[in-house]
Amino acid sequence: MFSGLKDSAAIISGAGGGMGTASALRLAREGCRVFAVDIHPGSLEKLEERFRQENLGGLTTHVCDAIHEHEVEEAVERCVRTYGKVDILVNIAGIYTDCLLKDMSYAEWRRTMDINVDSVMFFCRAVLSSMLENRHGKIINMASQAGVSGSVTHAHYSASKAAIIGLSRSLAREVAECGINVNCIAPGIIRTPMTACYTPEQVAGFLGKIPMGRFGEADDVAKVIEFLASDGSDYLTGQVFNVTGGWLMVS
Ligand SMILES: NC(=O)c1ccc[n+]([C@@H]2O[C@H](COP(=O)([O-])OP(=O)(O)OC[C@H]3O[C@@H](n4cnc5c(N)ncnc54)[C@H](O)[C@@H]3O)[C@@H](O)[C@H]2O)c1
Repeated sequence: MFSGLKDSAAIISGAGGGMGTASALRLAREGCRVFAVDIHPGSLEKLEERFRQENLGGLTTHVCDAIHEHEVEEAVERCVRTYGKVDILVNIAGIYTDCLLKDMSYAEWRRTMDINVDSVMFFCRAVLSSMLENRHGKIINMASQAGVSGSVTHAHYSASKAAIIGLSRSLAREVAECGINVNCIAPGIIRTPMTACYTPEQVAGFLGKIPMGRFGEADDVAKVIEFLASDGSDYLTGQVFNVTGGWLMVS
């Protein structure tokens, strides 16, 4: 059993989505206080309801469009005012659209980069002063298998997720001696609202490539987040954890 989560304070971006909700619940069950950020107020209300159903305390919700630097800084400042510190940052907010590169507008490319990459940079930078002061921090950034292997119709998305890996490894080196760990998770296909759009043909095609023969659940990712946020990950930094049901080991 890993420890280090009780009475810690975690910011989760994209907390109203599939993986964000599963992660918020997992961390809160271990006694972590959660500062849940999302652009959609309705998704945060649903998260509050899930906490009530489980009689979990320690939740603060905050509406924020993470593409705006000043909104991210305000969110982090409110977390520090509320909980006194930030121990854990989980960057989950992201979008995923389909388009061949030959047809892609610069606006579509830019929007993906703004949400998937810039928001991660803003949050990582904003939490550093609290983490450096306490000489303790766990930063977990959500990449994707697409950022490692590429994906047809997802050049923008794949590039954004590869950027997250480069950002995370660079930051990991910058703060390795300061008690701060920075790691990435690269999921394969996880059953969340983001992947609800797949056709039965696409589902069958993907399943044929996954050795475990099933899509991941949001909680499969949340378990890894719980581990990376705990003291179990104290000697791990700059790593990418592939949560793919074995997909990535298949050539
Ligand atoms: N589901 C998958 O198969 C899969 C695979 C690999 C990687 N990922 C990545 O995992 C992360 C979570 O995905 P999910 O499946 O839970 O998706 P999801 O759509 O359920 O959740 C994403 C959340 O991000 C929030 N968000 C979007 N734009 C935002 C913004 N500008 N500011 C603040 N919040 C914003 C959304 O409101 C939503 O709640 C994403 O970064 C995604 O790219 C997902």
